Amino acid sequence: DKAVLAYSGGLDTSAIVPWLKENYDCEVVAFVADVGQGDDELAGVEEKAIASGASSCHVVDLKQQLVNEVIFPTLKTGAIYEGQYLLGTALARPIIAAAQVEIARKVGADALAHGCTGKGNDQVRFESAFAALAPDLQVIAPWREWDMRSRPQLLAYLAERNIPCSASATKIYSRDANLWHISTEGGELEDPWNAPTAQVWSWTTEPLQAPDVPEYLTLSFLHGEWVALNGEAIDPVSAITQLNHVAGAHGVGRLDMVENRLVGMKSRGCYETPAGAVLYAALQGLESLVLDRTTQDYRIRMGNEFAQLLYDGRWFTPLRDVMLAAANKLAEPLTGDIVVKLYKGQVNVTQKRSPNSLYSNAFATFDEDDVYNQQHAEGFIRLYSLASRIRALHQTPAAID
Ligand code: ARG
Ligand code: SIN
Repeated sequence: DKAVLAYSGGLDTSAIVPWLKENYDCEVVAFVADVGQGDDELAGVEEKAIASGASSCHVVDLKQQLVNEVIFPTLKTGAIYEGQYLLGTALARPIIAAAQVEIARKVGADALAHGCTGKGNDQVRFESAFAALAPDLQVIAPWREWDMRSRPQLLAYLAERNIPCSASATKIYSRDANLWHISTEGGELEDPWNAPTAQVWSWTTEPLQAPDVPEYLTLSFLHGEWVALNGEAIDPVSAITQLNHVAGAHGVGRLDMVENRLVGMKSRGCYETPAGAVLYAALQGLESLVLDRTTQDYRIRMGNEFAQLLYDGRWFTPLRDVMLAAANKLAEPLTGDIVVKLYKGQVNVTQKRSPNSLYSNAFATFDEDDVYNQQHAEGFIRLYSLASRIRALHQTPAAID
């Protein structure tokens, strides 16, 4: 008889409040996660929730937790989904779901509700988290139950109940924002043959219009964790926001991709992750200096696997702990400074240094060296290619060496 709804203040969740009361005969408690989506979205959200019929509204600031418990650890694993996506939406879900469960316990609710559609990844992420954290609570997903399908229908539903709503009947895109990224889907983007128009992008400058002078930033890392910007210690949450502005102004962090959803269908999304793009590139630069070949290869594979775990909503599983432990161990030598160049939509690493650098000029030089005996390479190559030699000899016995 009491449900906690993950409420955003948008049209969908505004309609869900009266719908839950009517169809489940329950009290609805609104829960708003502040994950850094911005003041525009959060302004007046409590009043809106109450006006829709919620008995109370709890706004919880999760920004710190999002960065410390999910974003930074995930960055350390090198996670990137299908080689491109920095997981901006997926990252926030575990923290939001956990906070929602916490509110449910506090108010003694027996159900959890969300506004995800029945076609996407987010429903899986939320409900997998609920299953792990609160298996006793009922889950309600109105989009899978009601037969409303369009914004005008939702607006009419609210109008019939005299619930005020400032949402417009036409809204081109579906967006999801937090302090790490903003996603834009829907509208003309549903046709992959339509190039994104200027109005798709909200955090990044069109690269051609970005400054003609490149900007250089020095990022310092300690055991794989970002600790300083241009020599000054950072506060993670505000530093990410600052880096989003700086890199976004140079058009850095845009991604337009078609991805495979967990539920099987492909979807097209435009994502902006300026700070993430810079941090990912910088960390990669540091890894290249510090990790040996097989370790680096392992990390790339781990990054893929961790991306899948996060994308697929398997955050609250033992495997996550296992992989984060491995990532932490792997990140131990990732200490050093990286200089990145931001210019017309590109981020490039231009300088790297680390006390743990394995780069040895003595070995790598094209000039004379006294540490490496080139004759050793011959025996290595003979054994390394022995299988090829044997196969070739087998096929053409005449070629015996
Ligand atoms: N396709 C991306 C993902 O699954 C972005 C999803 C955006 N979600 C949303 N509710 N608008 O992570
Ligand atoms: C949704 O369907 O609710 C958003 C998109 C997604 O979850 O993948």
